[in-house]
Amino acid sequence: MNTGAPRIEINEVGPRDGLQIEKAFVPTEEKIAFVDALSDCGYARIEVTSFTSPKAIPALADAQDVMRAIRRRPGVIYTALVPNIRGLERAVEVGTDELNLVMSSSETHNRANLRMTRDQSQAELTSILQAARAAGVPCNVSLSTVFGCPFDGDVPVSEVLRLATQFVEAGATGITLCDTTGMAYPSQVADVCEQVARAVPGIALTAHLHNTRGMALANAIAAWQTGIVRFDAAAGGLGGCPYAPGASGNVNTEELVHMFQCMGIATGVDLQALLAIVRGLPQLVQRDFSTPLLSAGHRLATHAPPAWLAERFGPA
Ligand code: COA
Ligand code: ZN
Repeated sequence: MNTGAPRIEINEVGPRDGLQIEKAFVPTEEKIAFVDALSDCGYARIEVTSFTSPKAIPALADAQDVMRAIRRRPGVIYTALVPNIRGLERAVEVGTDELNLVMSSSETHNRANLRMTRDQSQAELTSILQAARAAGVPCNVSLSTVFGCPFDGDVPVSEVLRLATQFVEAGATGITLCDTTGMAYPSQVADVCEQVARAVPGIALTAHLHNTRGMALANAIAAWQTGIVRFDAAAGGLGGCPYAPGASGNVNTEELVHMFQCMGIATGVDLQALLAIVRGLPQLVQRDFSTPLLSAGHRLATHAPPAWLAERFGPA
């Protein structure tokens, strides 16, 4: 139980998880400007893009151009998603600071998303871990569908523990537990996070939550209470996996930051600077979507009372 970790770290995944599912291709220069603006918000990490097949994820076909051109702000770790050896080669070539390897905890989602069996993916990622160690690039492993698979339903925790343990033994420096389609609920999140933390003690765990069913913030609190201090989140709540039916946005970064700020937990992120970026997101992705925190403002963004109050009751 977390008795009050005073600080959390946020990995902004908007440029990767956020843009991968968008229909309108965001021009390369606009992606670069998006990442550069995020760099000034105070994030620990920014997941800039993914080095996947351009046929699988056309929205991020310009991964190398983006990674090459972004401004590298000291102190920010620039990461990218990598599913195979080809992705590793492309990522290393353009100086990605840290790789985020990916495979699913469930068999069917792995086959649909990565066109490999889980065993094939595990072998591929194990080779990447070896090659990345030789190249001196740290690797986190993201396990998708940990809290449920849109094809297979509930995923045995034993499978999550097996994969997490084997990847740590193979050299992963962190494990991300992904709720790919928002199937997680708080008591499950607490239980799974505790079990994984016991299985891989001392390894940094990250929670990757989607708000598909409105439980992302509740799940974040549940994860934090078990001691997790790293969270993936997407500005504006963009995001979703194109190979998972019904997938929708990540936990909103601005809502996550606002919530933890209210609780006195430092996130490092400048909420005003982030909200200024969120304001421009509908234009970036060329569709309208609601950004409730932007409309409502900070909880203490109070309003002037109606003028008639002073007439009726006198000055407050
Ligand atoms: N980067 C760029 N191109 C790649 C690539 C990579 N990492 N991996 C494969 N390719 C290319 C191959 O060169 C080949 O190109 P060609 O048809 O012009 O010869 C083509 O993609 C198919 O290659 P293959 O090895 O047969 O891959 P696949 O079709 O079996 O797909 C993946 C496997 C993993 C590459 C693909 O499913 C993928 O990129 N998935 C990512 C899904 C994702 O990001 N989901 C959301 C995040 S969880
Ligand atoms: Zn996701």
